[in-house]
Amino acid sequence: MDPLRALRPWEAPEVTSWGRLAMSGVDRRHPSLSLDGDWHFQLLPSPDAPVGETWSTAHVPGAWTLQDTDDLPHYTNVRMPFAEFPPHSPAANPTGVYERTVDVPAEWAGRRIVLQVGAAESVLLVQVDGRPVGVSKDSHLAAEFDLTAVVRAGDRAVLRLTVVKWSDASHLEDQDQWWHGGITRPVLLYATDPLHLADVTVLARADGELRVDCRVRDAAGALPEGWHVSGDLDGLAVAQDTTFDRANAEDERVSAFLGEARLRATVPDVRTWTAETPELYGLTVRLHRPDGTVADTSYHRVGFRDVEIAGRDLLINGERVFIRGVNRHDFHPLTGRTVSHDDMRADLALLKRFGFNAVRTAHYPNDPALYDIADEFGLYVVDEADIESHDHAHEIADDPRYLNAFVDRVSRMVLRDKNHPSVIIWSLGNESDYGANHDAAAGWVRRHDPTRPVQYEGAAKRGWADPDVASDIACPMYAPLEDCVAHALSGKQTKPLIQCEYSHAMGNSNGTLADHWAAIEATPGLQGGFIWEFWDHGILQRVSDGRPAGRAGAGRYSDGVAAPGHRWAYGGDFGDTPHDGAFIADGVVFPDRTPKPVLYEHREIAAPVRLESFRHEGPVIGNHQHFRGLDWLSGEWLLSLADGRTLTAPAELPDLRPGETAAVPLPLDLPDDGGEAWLTLRVTTARDEAWAPRGTVVCLPQVRLRPRPVREAVAVPERTVEVDADGLLVHPLLRSAPTLSLWRAPTDNDELGGMADRWREWGLDAPVRRLVAVRRDGASVGVLAEYAFGTAVVRHEQVLTAVEGGIRVEETAELPEALYDVARVGSVFETVAGPELLDWFGPGPWESYPDRATAPVGHHSLPVDDLFTPYLRPQESGGRHGVRHFTLSAPDATGLAVRLDRPSQVSVTRYRAADLAAAAHHDELVPREGCVVHIDAAHRGLGTASCGPDTFASYLVPTGTHRWGWILRAL
Ligand code: GAL
Ligand code: MG
Repeated sequence: MDPLRALRPWEAPEVTSWGRLAMSGVDRRHPSLSLDGDWHFQLLPSPDAPVGETWSTAHVPGAWTLQDTDDLPHYTNVRMPFAEFPPHSPAANPTGVYERTVDVPAEWAGRRIVLQVGAAESVLLVQVDGRPVGVSKDSHLAAEFDLTAVVRAGDRAVLRLTVVKWSDASHLEDQDQWWHGGITRPVLLYATDPLHLADVTVLARADGELRVDCRVRDAAGALPEGWHVSGDLDGLAVAQDTTFDRANAEDERVSAFLGEARLRATVPDVRTWTAETPELYGLTVRLHRPDGTVADTSYHRVGFRDVEIAGRDLLINGERVFIRGVNRHDFHPLTGRTVSHDDMRADLALLKRFGFNAVRTAHYPNDPALYDIADEFGLYVVDEADIESHDHAHEIADDPRYLNAFVDRVSRMVLRDKNHPSVIIWSLGNESDYGANHDAAAGWVRRHDPTRPVQYEGAAKRGWADPDVASDIACPMYAPLEDCVAHALSGKQTKPLIQCEYSHAMGNSNGTLADHWAAIEATPGLQGGFIWEFWDHGILQRVSDGRPAGRAGAGRYSDGVAAPGHRWAYGGDFGDTPHDGAFIADGVVFPDRTPKPVLYEHREIAAPVRLESFRHEGPVIGNHQHFRGLDWLSGEWLLSLADGRTLTAPAELPDLRPGETAAVPLPLDLPDDGGEAWLTLRVTTARDEAWAPRGTVVCLPQVRLRPRPVREAVAVPERTVEVDADGLLVHPLLRSAPTLSLWRAPTDNDELGGMADRWREWGLDAPVRRLVAVRRDGASVGVLAEYAFGTAVVRHEQVLTAVEGGIRVEETAELPEALYDVARVGSVFETVAGPELLDWFGPGPWESYPDRATAPVGHHSLPVDDLFTPYLRPQESGGRHGVRHFTLSAPDATGLAVRLDRPSQVSVTRYRAADLAAAAHHDELVPREGCVVHIDAAHRGLGTASCGPDTFASYLVPTGTHRWGWILRAL
């Protein structure tokens, strides 16, 4: 047994590391030796098991749980996947032994040689040539070890990294995500001068003041005479601060051993950093030998900006900014927590394109690339420490055995990320109750970095206004909007209110997002929040053997859908028990980063340019940004007319400062036909941005120029409408006649919010229809039917009238009080095979529902298969809100046209609600030949009840009498 394993550090919460170097803000970009690639690998059943003779290989970086081992991914949300209480871990404890030889470069002779392991979960043990080197915990931060004493330049060494999956630390890493094991970020070796920069802290204020604090420590102990530091800020020389040197020299408590030096400069006319104006300066910090030659260098991209809390406002450079944030895990459907630089860039570019300006690194320090890219693109970051003890939160928050771990995890995050302008707030972690261990960590941060606020959701035990030490921000999760507004209006608010999580994006969700933002923008004291969450964590799985596809699955998905023979796995799909099912699929993007409809909704809600209102002389354009004008944008006017035309004209965006508005002349002549008309400003990027090419849509604000006129259809008395013996419409284009529908395939919100159970109990999914009477009256047939839903009976009447070119359908349904909250009231019918394309006039083109309907009204056209959104667990999907009229056509232009009396919720799919409800994954769905069409007089909002508030009462389907009417014509 090797000595490190004999110490059993996996069951010693007090031990956070041994032999590990201090974390620092130094950023060296000189050549290093990458140790990524295939390593010899053994997976032992426990850390006590002997290492065998037979080796396989494992790829580094990567989780072994995604590399064809028998230890597969396991998903639990709150509960730990094992029964042992902290600090214990189970006896069955997969332990990966990684080994490889390393040829230490001969030119590193005389230098200090450092090993960096980017991340390993959950305990890392390091040996070189059988000699113990170090131990580290915290699965989401790098660990560095000084190998100078155990390797020789020019020689070959055997490096062994042992990774123990379960430990005392697992109880602090109980985040809501898949459990994996392995080395998930890069491994490398680098060399420095023995005397090197040990830490660099950059402070850059919005007034142009730059201060750089350097620490230089020699392995031997003292900072020799004549050594000094210098800086270069984009060509501006930054000098060592002699006042600081003198003060240190005169202070007898400060020894040369500490090796502190300070650089100072004032930048004239500084360009300040904000998420809208991510101005960065390149700073090079050099450590010089007495002869001036350079011993060490650290590179930084500096953003000059201030963060402060004034009263109940969080200010960036003095401005109260709205935080339009999202929570983001490091995730990839093939490689789990290993994310490439390109993938990270693509993630953040997508967020920028959809109007987000902030990320919370839920729930641990993310891959270092995130912070560089956030600096560059302009995103505010709430940097969160790797602490979530959810299942045993109360036991751990005050447990002194875990005190070190709290301070270690928070402080190392701060030391790593403090030089990033994007980081504006430190978070102490997530869902870990609140105890003395949090206060200890908060105390460390406040002393080390007084320039940023600290937040912790769990701290608000005595309410959002409580002056607890662990949170400067009231950052609840999933608080009802009315509670937030009431708090802001109460006069008792003491801190900015920015929800750390809100609007849970599980399945077809995020209802009432626009209502939230209307309230936030209108209520001083409310400043925004972070949507839960960015990713659907579906892992690409081969259906044949149930294994993760791993890196071999590259390219086997598109548009959110897994290729045939594959599916997106969620909890339970790997035989993992206990598990929390599809709760892992709750992001605004699919596992392949395809945007879900909510992102388009968000883009419009976050629009930097808005059309305020319409006055007769023209629309009013407003600049809704905090820091910049409109010169980075281009515009085009679109006039959408109900008759099918869309007229366009180039738009000249006015020169507006933030908050300003200007009326502009009506850009296009409004035809005199009296029809409904909408004016849209299509706003795009005027030039290439780091996160989007020129011409990318930024938003589509809109004003209505003229409402929809009421139009009566004219009956044609000599024609009749045919109904069958059951009183059902007979029509050559319909495979099945319109009948009443009150049900939808339950969304995740419907299921977890309890609505779906109620609907099943009421029998909404299996109505029994009974014809009561058929009455003929000239060109009309009146059909009265009763639908029995369990014990409740709904009377439904259809009056079918032959009108010019088609049939007018007028319907009435009387919903008894017993059915007080149904999914929809409307008609459902199925077409014959043939129609493939939906053209409609109404909001679009993306999917919309009554409480998620911020989409411009216009003419839209999509293939039926593209209307459907493939939420991971099949459910109600593909709806379009506010449809005025539509056609459903085959390639030979045959098909049907429908005109609705009132703008209505319409959906056209290849699936019946029952088909969707019966399937657990998409590969189980068989598309029907014809189209299933729903026309709803009322449709329930989506809400967010899978985790958080349901939709508002105004979006529920009321009881009582519903009337709706439509005209069906053949094309
Ligand atoms: C929160 C938690 C997140 C996630 C979410 C539900 O309570 O902080 O990690 O579990 O709920 O998806
Ligand atoms: Mg949790």
